[in-house]
Amino acid sequence: QAVHIINVPLDLGASRRGTDAGPSAFRVAGLSAALQRLGYTVSQETDIPVPAMETRKTDNASARFKDEILTVCQELASTTLQVMDAGEIPLVIGGDHSIAMGTVSGLSAHFAKAQKRLGLIWFDAHGDMNLPESSPSGNIHGMPLSHLIGMGDPDLSNILGAHPAVDVKNVVLIGIRDIDRIEREIINKSGVTAFTMREIDEIGMARVARRALEIVNDGTAGFHVSFDLDGCDPEVIPGTGTTVPGGVSYREAHLLLEECAAHGGMTSMEVVELNPFLDHRNVSAERAVTLIQSAFGRSIL
Ligand code: ARG
Ligand code: MN
Ligand code: MN
Ligand code: MN
Repeated sequence: QAVHIINVPLDLGASRRGTDAGPSAFRVAGLSAALQRLGYTVSQETDIPVPAMETRKTDNASARFKDEILTVCQELASTTLQVMDAGEIPLVIGGDHSIAMGTVSGLSAHFAKAQKRLGLIWFDAHGDMNLPESSPSGNIHGMPLSHLIGMGDPDLSNILGAHPAVDVKNVVLIGIRDIDRIEREIINKSGVTAFTMREIDEIGMARVARRALEIVNDGTAGFHVSFDLDGCDPEVIPGTGTTVPGGVSYREAHLLLEECAAHGGMTSMEVVELNPFLDHRNVSAERAVTLIQSAFGRSIL
């Protein structure tokens, strides 16, 4: 099987600089070789061009750098669509989480051609379901999931004409623990399923993973994993911009991804919000590479 790595060095969706260096940190941590050791061919890497913040100005206070992010997401969506059409597995490396609007829209456009749907696992400390009107920050990385379920800004929620890109009944959030005031109502009304840290504490990641897999595979042709590294505990992943204590442990994160691999229906993955400037000697990238290996079928024995 061929994995196609798509690098998206975007940091326009967050207020803290540095996620633009994510793809470089993953290269230094040996991502491509780690996949090859599992038997995959890494067919090709594609770099999506992204403008630097210093070269742009934004006057859109409720959705900062919307035009630039929309352009990046459109380009990314056409790329994930092409990669899926070619029968390769897209592995998208961010970049901040805004890129998910592009990744998932392209995947959905691929399945829509065959009247099929995509399920979505959203691993995150945050809900990422703000709307431009509700966002306390105006940062688009706090809004991608609401747009993927068809809400919010019509341009951002219609990339490649996939609207909504995913059906709420096939969307699960896992690991959330920091939700804004209005965002909470949006999540509760939306119809997506949320497994907060409380559910993980109560019933354990094994059961959360099993229930999540049932939901994302109910009537779909497969599922995508959108993995925000800040869903993990900051002690596991210090190299990310919006850390929240009390997160998913290293082993729980592996277990979730091992279950995704064992299921067999994972079509694609993206890993976002790595900020190498906040990291210690690239440990977060190295751990993220082992997490990706679990998602791609690595087992201990
Ligand atoms: N909820 C906050 C906001 O809307 C933080 C979002 C953080 N998102 C992320 N992808 N790390 O600004
Ligand atoms: Mn996120
Ligand atoms: Mn997050
Ligand atoms: Mn917050």
